[in-house]
Amino acid sequence: MAKSMVFTCTNCGAQHPRWSGQCDACGEWNSIVEEAPLSAGPGKKSLGARRGTTIKLMDLATAEAPPPRTLSGLGELDRVLGGGLVPASATLVGGDPGIGKSTLLLQAAAAFAEAGLSSVYVTGEEASAQVRMRAQRLGLAQAPVKLAAETALRDILTTLDELRPDVAIIDSIQTMWSDKVEAAPGSVSQVRAVAQELTTFAKSRGTSVILVGHVTKEGQIAGPRVVEHMVDTVLYFEGERGHQFRILRAVKNRFGPADEIGVFEMTGGGLAEVANPSALFLSDREQPAPGSAVFAGIEGTRPVLVEFQALVAPAPAGQARRSVVGWDSSRLAMILAVLEARCGIPFAGMDVYLNVAGGLRIGEPAADLAVAAALLSAREDVALPAGCVVFGEISLSGALRPVGQTENRLKEAQKLGFTEAALPARSKTSAGQGLRLRQMGDLTAFVGDMFGA
Ligand code: TYD
Ligand code: MG
Repeated sequence: MAKSMVFTCTNCGAQHPRWSGQCDACGEWNSIVEEAPLSAGPGKKSLGARRGTTIKLMDLATAEAPPPRTLSGLGELDRVLGGGLVPASATLVGGDPGIGKSTLLLQAAAAFAEAGLSSVYVTGEEASAQVRMRAQRLGLAQAPVKLAAETALRDILTTLDELRPDVAIIDSIQTMWSDKVEAAPGSVSQVRAVAQELTTFAKSRGTSVILVGHVTKEGQIAGPRVVEHMVDTVLYFEGERGHQFRILRAVKNRFGPADEIGVFEMTGGGLAEVANPSALFLSDREQPAPGSAVFAGIEGTRPVLVEFQALVAPAPAGQARRSVVGWDSSRLAMILAVLEARCGIPFAGMDVYLNVAGGLRIGEPAADLAVAAALLSAREDVALPAGCVVFGEISLSGALRPVGQTENRLKEAQKLGFTEAALPARSKTSAGQGLRLRQMGDLTAFVGDMFGA
């Protein structure tokens, strides 16, 4: 009997009984393609002949201390991995094409090799000579990294089984193909099968596998999201093309905190670590200008100061625009609504642009107050007090809610030479750490304090 085909979304991997223009699981357009289904496993009999073995959890615990994590020496990468690379783990590094994934992982392979691990870099995208040229440019030509240019998964697994390296980097999963699946490389079923086999290899042979996945825009190639659930750790490499900053973000981590970020700068000689991101994000800040507010945020376990920039301008009748970069647009709509309903400050008939400087994406509700401050400052054309950081969550009633890690935020602000902080009343602060604190219970009080309205 001919296998019936299934329709799979190349963005999120959801399966559909028939084709449609939009995937109702992830909302992506033109991402559904027809594919042969994966094998359903051993047919009719639901019970296998052999039973799997089980071990008592208690017996496991004391048998052996967990093998230590390995630090690569690339501090920002180690931080995002949750304190170094875990042996026998599977990690996915996703990102837009050209963002710097291959550069990062070649540098990581070299760093792991220098740290005493045997590391193999498998490329399916470039010829060995190209990788060598890149290594030369990065000053890594002498690093003891083994290099393979190969796309057939069976050959790769055979090689890895011989070498038994500590780290294997596969660049990228979309170029690899497994002969167990009849589908083109890059299709959802191929990408899943390849990730599955490599993850299994990692677990059974003790090799840490790092998979590279391109975020794709066209519908035929599967994106990294379709294998996120198979791996232990998912990292995304983000950044604006025009900016030199690159952010490595952990969105899933079985061995450490998610949401941790590492900050890099793309230079002529590869990626350089940025140990003090706050200083970098604020470095090209002009003197306090209307529309600018510095937010004291927390990314993962680390405080980071970033600047919100807002512009408010009269809009052509009936066509007010809301444009946001680096922040959630529905959250912006909420803050505009609260400003109007609770403080009587309307933004109707005005274009509103909001931007996070430096290309960082902020997801914390703690940034609400900084967004409101930037918007008000732009609207009133009045700069906020110099040397002031802002943070706090805004509720629909207009009340300001204290947020976590207040002290860490204040400490970071003070370290960078700020002298004042505007924050919600009842925030847990001890002694104020030498900053002048402006604490307000609601948004109306905040507007009065900052803008004397
Ligand atoms: P690459 O690592 O090839 O991206 P990806 O693997 O994510 O597709 O990086 C490509 C970009 O990085 C390319 O536009 C050039 C830039 N680059 C530098 O600026 N400096 C460098 O030292 C290197 C190696 C690349
Ligand atoms: Mg690449």
